[in-house]
Amino acid sequence: MFPKLFSPVRIGGLEIKNRVAMTAMGVNLAAAGGGVNDDIIAFYEARARGGVGLIVSGLCRVMDGAGAAEPCQLAARNVGDVQGLARLMDTVRMHGCVSS
Ligand SMILES: Cc1cc2nc3c(=O)[nH]c(=O)nc-3n(C[C@H](O)[C@H](O)[C@H](O)COP(=O)(O)O)c2cc1C
Repeated sequence: MFPKLFSPVRIGGLEIKNRVAMTAMGVNLAAAGGGVNDDIIAFYEARARGGVGLIVSGLCRVMDGAGAAEPCQLAARNVGDVQGLARLMDTVRMHGCVSS
């Protein structure tokens, strides 16, 4: 029915193993304040292990206050936050998934 669904696709320089994509959603699973924690890693890792080719992560703020839409939203405010996000990306990549 969808013959290309599980075939690879290239978007610019990005090679994606299939056309199954998870669109952005606010999952409210990060640490209070915005850091990556084991809960949000487990959530995205389960989707990656299940075979999703591309994950677009949900809400991620670069500053507190006006940038916060939910209490446990991802953040990229400082080096520690970015290191946590790198850990998240590395985790889903272990399952052949790419993430933005
Ligand atoms: C940052 C961000 C967060 C989002 N959060 C949600 C969400 O929590 N729930 C939801 O249904 N859609 C959310 N969306 C929208 C979905 O990712 C998606 O674009 C929408 O469901 C439309 O899908 P469609 O284009 O396949 O119809 C979010 C989008 C963005 C950009």
